[in-house]
Amino acid sequence: MSRFLSRHVRGLEPYVPGEQPLDRQYIKLNTNECPYPPAPGIVRLLAEHTGQEFALYPDPEAKELRGAIARRYGLAAEKVFVGNGSDEVLAFLCMAFFDGGDPIYFPDPSYGFYEVYANLFGLKARPIPLAKDFSIKEEDYLELDGHILLANPNAPTGLALSRCKIEGILKGNPHHLVVVDEAYVDFAGEDVTSLPLLSDYDNLMIVGTFSKSRSLAGLRLGYAFSRPEHIAALERIKYSFHPYNVNRFTQQAGVIAVEDDAYMGHVLEKIIATRDRTSLRLRELGCRVLPSSTNFLFMAHPSLTGRELYQKLREKGILVRCFEHPRTLDFVRVSIGTDEEIKAFLRAVEETL
Ligand SMILES: Cc1ncc(COP(=O)(O)O)c(C=O)c1O
Repeated sequence: MSRFLSRHVRGLEPYVPGEQPLDRQYIKLNTNECPYPPAPGIVRLLAEHTGQEFALYPDPEAKELRGAIARRYGLAAEKVFVGNGSDEVLAFLCMAFFDGGDPIYFPDPSYGFYEVYANLFGLKARPIPLAKDFSIKEEDYLELDGHILLANPNAPTGLALSRCKIEGILKGNPHHLVVVDEAYVDFAGEDVTSLPLLSDYDNLMIVGTFSKSRSLAGLRLGYAFSRPEHIAALERIKYSFHPYNVNRFTQQAGVIAVEDDAYMGHVLEKIIATRDRTSLRLRELGCRVLPSSTNFLFMAHPSLTGRELYQKLREKGILVRCFEHPRTLDFVRVSIGTDEEIKAFLRAVEETL
């Protein structure tokens, strides 16, 4: 540990990303990436690129990209912010809206970064335990004395809250910001996204990512939708921190990805079909599988802990994710891969059980 490390940083517990081991070839079902390539136009863009323009800084306003995203989602461009992955967008919004010592409410368990950021930015983390069935209960989120971060669908459970429940939470907290992290929303039904609520609630901010349904985890592109004044607040942070946060290639690829909805639809169809078939088969094998609205399954088997199942699968060349959280020790989270990858995963589960 550096002898110059600040006392604040010494006390932090950083986020632990899913492992990316190099010791052998694994089937990677541990970080909820998309198993399919991005829109074909992006591969063409890469092939045709001379690279010359990479000598220049990117457009700090990301005008074309924000315009394309705004058109796709039926919003004005002033309601769109883009960042270097939604992790960066979440960090910027913590800096823009939350003062040190503010209580921040989020479900527990949920996306691990919420607690990490609460600690990094000196906020008071107020985790709200999920219900016994792992669902988020709207009534636990009413009239709170702090801002709220909600992943919908939630991770690692994969469960979604309907839009009308989110609306209840927005109504129940008119004086606080409700951030809905929709990283997995494209894999959920139509009634999950909070997008239609944006015009009615000035305390709503939606965060999204191109890492999952648009296969661009490696290019780092996330976004936020909210009222122009809230987006301007994020811009203030960006220009105080990293004005060129979205690189040139990502800006170009993002436009292609967001304009090719037909391709995304095709990818979603495949992943959802694989997910539902896999879930059925795992249940036949005696596993508990939560109903998933995402590109992953949260599953357990009564004969093994999550860590044991993780370890057995790892020995067979398949990476899934297990957790240290006391509520989820029995579970592993399995990202939906290609049919071939999932076939190998199911074979490994059958052998293990
Ligand atoms: C709920 C949730 N939010 C945000 C992210 C971050 O996504 P990215 O930074 O790749 O956009 C993830 C990544 O797994 C996630 O699960």
